Amino acid sequence: MLRIAVLVSGGGTNLQAIIDSIADGRIKDTQIVKVISNKADAYALKRAEENGIASEAVVRKDFLDKEAFHEALIRAVDEAQPDLVVLAGFLVVLPLKMIEKYRGRIINIHPSLIPSFCGNGFYGLKVHEAALARGVKVTGATVHFVDEGTDTGPIIAQKAVEVQEGDTAEILQKRVMEQAEWIILPGVINDIACGKIQLK
Ligand code: GRF
Repeated sequence: MLRIAVLVSGGGTNLQAIIDSIADGRIKDTQIVKVISNKADAYALKRAEENGIASEAVVRKDFLDKEAFHEALIRAVDEAQPDLVVLAGFLVVLPLKMIEKYRGRIINIHPSLIPSFCGNGFYGLKVHEAALARGVKVTGATVHFVDEGTDTGPIIAQKAVEVQEGDTAEILQKRVMEQAEWIILPGVINDIACGKIQLK
């Protein structure tokens, strides 16, 4: 049984896609052992609660300094004893100590076809605003391993999505979520659970 901890900051639609995929068998032999958020009011925490999944908020302002916050974040993950850490709309830069401790066992979903529209400052709607501003005809989503950089780790899976006439950033974001993120993230988790992708 693959034990996964999911780190979230917002609405949790990618978390929901994982929950639903485990329920309908698209993801085999996997258990979400904990959901952790840096925002106490993240709707993703409500989704965890509604599905009987342990959850915890680790909020920066509750700590004296960044080091204490990082220690608390690492402790919250360690307590879950996950095989895999999934960043699903998690907007905090992971502490180096955590990346070293879980190297090769942290994956992230990014809402573009890396190496386009990624790196510092490219998150949420900003990614889609940049894609529309550049005038690309195709965008999509990427699942990659997390390393010390921002959106720089080895790419695991990608799925392309057509940009349509009249798209706003909001419309494009929803299409990328529905047609790419919510498909490839559960797909990668299932591949890891089934051993098609090896974790080092
Ligand atoms: C969205 O911008 C999504 O594209 C990215 O993280 C943000 C929040 O996603 N992966 P979620 O609804 O919290 O999963």
